[in-house]
Amino acid sequence: MGQPNNLYFTLLFLLFSLCWAQRTNPDSERSSCNRCDLRLSCNCSHGGFTYIPTVTDRALTLDLSFNNITMVTLDDLTGHMRLKALSLHGNRIAVIHPSAFDSLWSLEDLDLSNNQLTALNHKWFSKLGALQRLNLLNNPYSCLGSPPVFESLVRLRRLGFGGPALKELKRVDLSGVTQLEELTVHTNSLSRYESGTLADIWPLGRVTLSLHGPFENVELASAVLGDVSYPETHIVLEDLHLYRNESVQPFRETARRRVRYISFHNLSVSDEAIVDLLVVMNGSPLTSLIMDGVTLTGEGRWEPASWTDQKCIDEFYVRNVVVLNIWKFTSFLQLGFLLQYPRKVSVINSKVFVMPCPTSHLLVNLQYLDLSDNLLTDMTLAETLCNGDGTLKDLRVLNVSRNTLKSFASVSRLVVKLSKLTHLDISGNGYISMPQSCSWPTTLRYLNISRAKLISITPCLPATLEVLDLSYNDLSEFILHLPALRELHLSGNKILMVPPGGMFPNLQTLMIQSNTLNMFSQSDLQSYARLQSLKAGENKFVCSCDFVAFIQTVMKGDGDVHLIDGEESYVCDSPLYLQGELVGQVHLSIIECHQVLFVSVSCGVALFVVTLVGVLMWHFHALWYLKMTWAWLKAKRNSRKRRQRRDREDSEVLISYDAFVSYSERDASWVENYLVPELEEPSENDENTVNARRSQPLTLCLHKRDFLPGHWIVDNIMSAMERSRRTVFILSENFVQSDWCRYELDFSHFWLFDGNSGGDAAILILLEPLSKDDIPKRFCKLRQLMSSTTYLEWPQEEERIGEFWRSLRNALRGEEEDDN
Ligand SMILES: *[C@@H]1O[C@H](CO)[C@@H](O)[C@H](O)[C@H]1NC(C)=O
Ligand SMILES: *[C@@H]1O[C@H](CO)[C@@H](O)[C@H](O)[C@H]1NC(C)=O
Ligand SMILES: *[C@@H]1O[C@H](CO)[C@@H](O)[C@H](O)[C@H]1NC(C)=O
Ligand SMILES: *[C@@H]1O[C@H](CO)[C@@H](O)[C@H](O)[C@H]1NC(C)=O
Ligand SMILES: *[C@@H]1O[C@H](CO)[C@@H](O)[C@H](O)[C@H]1NC(C)=O
Ligand SMILES: *[C@@H]1O[C@H](CO)[C@@H](O)[C@H](O)[C@H]1NC(C)=O
Repeated sequence: MGQPNNLYFTLLFLLFSLCWAQRTNPDSERSSCNRCDLRLSCNCSHGGFTYIPTVTDRALTLDLSFNNITMVTLDDLTGHMRLKALSLHGNRIAVIHPSAFDSLWSLEDLDLSNNQLTALNHKWFSKLGALQRLNLLNNPYSCLGSPPVFESLVRLRRLGFGGPALKELKRVDLSGVTQLEELTVHTNSLSRYESGTLADIWPLGRVTLSLHGPFENVELASAVLGDVSYPETHIVLEDLHLYRNESVQPFRETARRRVRYISFHNLSVSDEAIVDLLVVMNGSPLTSLIMDGVTLTGEGRWEPASWTDQKCIDEFYVRNVVVLNIWKFTSFLQLGFLLQYPRKVSVINSKVFVMPCPTSHLLVNLQYLDLSDNLLTDMTLAETLCNGDGTLKDLRVLNVSRNTLKSFASVSRLVVKLSKLTHLDISGNGYISMPQSCSWPTTLRYLNISRAKLISITPCLPATLEVLDLSYNDLSEFILHLPALRELHLSGNKILMVPPGGMFPNLQTLMIQSNTLNMFSQSDLQSYARLQSLKAGENKFVCSCDFVAFIQTVMKGDGDVHLIDGEESYVCDSPLYLQGELVGQVHLSIIECHQVLFVSVSCGVALFVVTLVGVLMWHFHALWYLKMTWAWLKAKRNSRKRRQRRDREDSEVLISYDAFVSYSERDASWVENYLVPELEEPSENDENTVNARRSQPLTLCLHKRDFLPGHWIVDNIMSAMERSRRTVFILSENFVQSDWCRYELDFSHFWLFDGNSGGDAAILILLEPLSKDDIPKRFCKLRQLMSSTTYLEWPQEEERIGEFWRSLRNALRGEEEDDN
């Protein structure tokens, strides 16, 4: 029985621990997000987080948008006292702890939009005294709840609330909210509105209302609209569908309250409704009518409204217009009664391929015409501008960007008679080249030809320009004198060098990022007399020392020029080991930066050391010592070889001389005239013929006579000494000064002290009195020898010569003398 029981408990325990792990893991091991930049802005958006990750307490901005976060617990945000902006947009948050935001004292911006909050809690916001922007849009709560949620937000300036489920708004809901720059309310499903709910907010800069549902009910829509309508308030209405006489009636309220700015976003409207709207708006001071995203249905019958008074209308702006059944529309010319008033007309991205010349004639007050993002060609633009005859004589701004224009000469011809034209935007067209010369209105100050396909520029560009935009073309250089130019945009070309500043004496702003610049320098910028702002990042920078140092001083703000793009746009492309590093953070060493100086200094030092060593060596005869050591090493090796050979044979056999005579060339006459005859050919009448053996001739080895020609001299000396019983040194001033003798002497030294031949192998003959102190110090061995070995002195007196020879012979015969 015991065993199954155990098993059962083990299973239970396992199951329990599994559950426990699942429950605690997210809490105990909260994932973290380190995506913070230098300005302490942490972007943890799209991070796949299911809980709020840990982020540094010092963060100022925290973007947690587009994650899968479902709740905000009590501890998730504790410690973030410095946080200024928090975005939780686009998560699945359904639960927020009442005190979750309590520590966010500095929070100015809170975005909770697009979540799953089914109810709001006033406690969330009770400690957020600094909050200025709050976004609660697109959550499924059906009312704002009580007590009033916004009451403690005394500094609130921008508020957004509402969503698909918001059904009801009561007067108390917005208590505490009194003054807003911007209010956004999504109330497409609103069914109950307590009149006056939004009426206490004033001044109100801009109100955006989604009122699709309420517009089905004239009274409801009128009540809402009436509460926010002020002459200075910009009213934006979203998602409206205006198709019947009734649906435009709420605008009576805006007309009555003298609203001047109305925008429609995502509007679906019929021609009839427009006529009714014009009737409702008759005589109202509406100055600006903006429609973005319009679907137009009907047949285009506008005449019924032609009697209305719209003379206040100043700006008419439509964008993204879709005309259903366009073939049914008879003509827009019936709207002619409206065209005489506005000074600003924009028809953008609405598939306009022509505005007929007669329509242009009607636009008598027009100063600003924007037909960008349409289908105009060179030919239809000629029709629109009545072939350049100067219609639209008051036009100051013409924007025909992003059409399909190709001829630069044609556009210049068409606008030349627009004698007030200051701004011309022909960007995003297909210009490839420009003629050598063109004529322009003398008033033209601003020309935008960005995002065309120009490969070069010519003096066709007017000299009156103050702002010229040529970014995103294919230019490789820009050289043209433009005396009035203040702003030049050349980004996104293939420019290799900063244009010469002398051409633009008044230039204040230069944009030249995303080109192929390798570097630029102080002098490049100094050639611009008035440059203040420069944007030059995203180029292929070669991080030389000069460039890095220069950019770093500019970044610090020293100097007149200010870099308006961030530090992170300046990245090294080469050398390879710096590729990808920020120019502002590169540290180059002194060696890299002052190579010439470094090389010269190190060469100088090296030269000095070599010279010094040379001088020292010369002074201390080091070369001589070196030569000696080397020669000695070599000779010693040879000598060892010889000795090995000799050991194998009989040593006596190899002795071929009685003495090797070492002497200076200058003492040669003494050796040849006295020594050799006396020792090698002893005379019959010598006093010492008594002992026959003593007068036997001795064989001498003389380098002059007996050295093998072609052998190395030290080797010769070595072998001569080895093959001789004794070495006789003829010492004189000359000996000491002669190089040859130094070798011989020294080798005899080494030989002697090698110990094979004993101390008596050397015999010194002093030809002239020579004290030990006359011998240079470096011949220390010789000096040592002179003090240890007795030496023979060549007598100055005639009578002592015989005695000298005797002593010498005895010394040469060695032990024979000892026998005596
Ligand atoms: C965070 O990054 C996303 C793209 O991943 C970007 O859309 C968003 O604007 C960034 N947020 C901030 C605050 O810079
Ligand atoms: C969130 O979770 C759902 C499934 O629960 C998944 O399909 C989706 O990709 C996740 N989103 C993100 C941003 O991770
Ligand atoms: C435009 O408004 C209609 C209601 O009139 C709505 O159904 C639609 O989703 C809106 N479109 C956009 C892009 O908001
Ligand atoms: C539209 O309705 C208003 C009042 O509801 C009415 O006075 C007006 O005549 C109607 N207009 C048209 C064209 O039916
Ligand atoms: C012309 O229109 C484009 C696109 O609508 C806009 O970006 C540009 O600023 C306009 N140019 C002028 C001079 O207003
Ligand atoms: C030139 O036009 C482009 C749009 O085509 C716009 O983005 C740019 O800001 C304009 N340049 C200037 C200097 O206004």
